[in-house]
Amino acid sequence: MTTQSAPSSPVRRAEPRRYLMCRPTYFDVSYAINVWMDPDKPVDRDLAVLQWERLRALYLDLGHTVELIEPIPGLPDMVYAANGATVVDGLALGARFRNRERAAEGPAYLDWLRAHGDCVDILDPVHVNEGEGDFLVAGRWLLAGTGFRSSRQSHAEAQEFLGRPVVSLELVDDRYYHLDTALAVLTDDLVMYNPAAFSPGSRAALERLFPDAVLADPADAEVFGLNAVSDGRHVVLPEGAVGLAAQLRERGFEPIAVDLSELLKGGGSVKCCTLELRPRT
Ligand code: ARG
Repeated sequence: MTTQSAPSSPVRRAEPRRYLMCRPTYFDVSYAINVWMDPDKPVDRDLAVLQWERLRALYLDLGHTVELIEPIPGLPDMVYAANGATVVDGLALGARFRNRERAAEGPAYLDWLRAHGDCVDILDPVHVNEGEGDFLVAGRWLLAGTGFRSSRQSHAEAQEFLGRPVVSLELVDDRYYHLDTALAVLTDDLVMYNPAAFSPGSRAALERLFPDAVLADPADAEVFGLNAVSDGRHVVLPEGAVGLAAQLRERGFEPIAVDLSELLKGGGSVKCCTLELRPRT
């Protein structure tokens, strides 16, 4: 007997992507700027590096390009590359961090983008924004989180620079302090998200924009299941998110579970470690 996907699920096509990652050479939890971080809990850095290497190898196996930025001593969160910028159509909007512990990461990522990003234009922002932690490209929209890190003013700054209509979304649960911990883009017109992480108005806006969205239950959200990376077909996500993986399979995607337990101690997972570099189209 052959197994077939449900007749309604469309064929999903993967598209090769260009990602920027940062090896967790200096990864640590030496301060706490989100509720997941506990500086008293030991971190196994060698294991963090191994888990991260597996993620990188997986992207290469899937046919993606992975660029590397040199890690800097004293910046233990630099492994979370998604926060370093937002790059769309070859336009790179730099990051400006809320917490001083991460402030130096903004210029470091900007320097890399200036040297290797093949960018058409680069902006060092005025307002606080934490890159793709809070800005997610979904087709013609730029979904933009606020409430904990990126400021509302940064949403206007992003729209002006990137020329993409911004949809501001209010995050209300401090466990899901970045948009990419509460929502993942699967294709240009499909997302998955945790409704409980958003204000009522933002939830209503998401329902209007994405009536067919995959909704995560609390158990999948708590293991960072929404901190996922999709290439249009393969969805790389934390291994604990079994409910989400099943839903994705039903929708015609190929979920690939990875173990990033050490990086979870800093409050991040797959997507946090991955900055997408989108070329001019
Ligand atoms: N410890 C980091 C922070 O609190 C984790 C960042 C996670 N990154 C992300 N894209 N959500 O800033």
